[in-house]
Amino acid sequence: MSQVQRSHWTSRIGFVLASAGGAVGLGNIWRFPYMTGENGGSIFILIYLGCVILLGLPVMIAEVLIGKTTQLNPVGAFRQLAGSKSPWQVPGYMGILTAFTILSFYSVVAGWCIAFLYKAVTGVFSSGISFEEINNIFKKLTSSPIEQGIFHSIFMFFTVLIVYAGVKKGLQRWSEILMPLLILIIIILIGYGLTLSGAKDGMRFLLEPQPNKLTHKSIMDAVGQCFFSLSLGMGAMLTYGSYMDRKDKVVSPCLWVVFMDSAIALLAGIAVFTIVFTYTTDLSQGPGLVFVVLPNIFSKMPLGTLFAILFFTLLFFAAITSAISLLEVITAYFIDQYDMPRSHATIIFGTICLIIGVGCIFSGEFFDFLDKLSTHYLLPIGGFMISLFAGWKLDQNIVKSEFQGSWYGIFYYPWLICVRVICPTLILLVFLRAHGVI
Ligand code: PFF
Repeated sequence: MSQVQRSHWTSRIGFVLASAGGAVGLGNIWRFPYMTGENGGSIFILIYLGCVILLGLPVMIAEVLIGKTTQLNPVGAFRQLAGSKSPWQVPGYMGILTAFTILSFYSVVAGWCIAFLYKAVTGVFSSGISFEEINNIFKKLTSSPIEQGIFHSIFMFFTVLIVYAGVKKGLQRWSEILMPLLILIIIILIGYGLTLSGAKDGMRFLLEPQPNKLTHKSIMDAVGQCFFSLSLGMGAMLTYGSYMDRKDKVVSPCLWVVFMDSAIALLAGIAVFTIVFTYTTDLSQGPGLVFVVLPNIFSKMPLGTLFAILFFTLLFFAAITSAISLLEVITAYFIDQYDMPRSHATIIFGTICLIIGVGCIFSGEFFDFLDKLSTHYLLPIGGFMISLFAGWKLDQNIVKSEFQGSWYGIFYYPWLICVRVICPTLILLVFLRAHGVI
């Protein structure tokens, strides 16, 4: 166990911005819009928001509280609370495995963002370029191991650099710089999107409920997206909670993080769909939505290059503040449990993720496998175990004292019902249904 004194956020807002930075990422700006497009728009959003309230918020409070109470990484935290022989350590170990899994493919997609940012800056998306040409640019990128490898490595390099700098000078400082910029860019993009002719159709698609589009897949997607977007079920929020001061309360910062993450996903949806509906009605682009459809649109609009630069900068900022939270989960584990210096941990495990990511570059199937493994299995199973742990095993006096003496005091019992019954049941049902068991 590490003897090094644990770093802490310098302020409560520092925790909120760093955690919101960890949560807001490609999940909000790349994944959420295309999932919404694939799953029928507004109905998916409604289910998603239901998941956020019933699953996301309660599990987030549980994770941050476990982290703050133990001041340890996910494995150490469960071990301290449940005992070193207890099976409750499983969610801790699974969290470390999940961090490796997600960071490896995440960095490849983040590499695409840098590649597209580079292309935007060099004027590739300026007017005159045809639809086919842009489709070919994306296809060429995703089938070129060298090009992808270069941008994936650049991204991983920056990720390692920030985590190497530590909690205050790395994670907190960069989140405090990048999050406000990200919000500014998104506001500019929405302001522009709402002036376009597709604004009405885009908003209707996002807001008008169409229950006939509901499928079991959309529910499973919404649950997976909720855990992925809020960075739950794998100890990332637990790790960030472990850098909180023991005196600080967790409920209201968690409310802020959940609010910011959901608001930014919705705002990204508005920005993307108002622009998309102005120029096309083809929404079934899947992962290519923001890489193929949007650049096509940028190339047709006035000041398109500027908007392309803004958009891919937004994606890059969002991706890097999340990637650092993933690497921090792994780093914190090796610092706490094996006394490894931060410098060694970041470089060694950043490099390992870089190598696994190269596997994703060479094999699309491996990429999909890691994506599905984490969002459809590891995160929901982790969330399932963490909610059971928080509801049935954790000393409830610790939790009660978090809720007492504040306006949200009345929410202690709703929280308890959620983590004891609603979250585990819902996750289990969705899981069994999605796998054809029921
Ligand atoms: N929440 C991030 C996103 O929406 O892009 C992804 C993520 C980051 C998942 C950190 C899990 C995590 F621990």
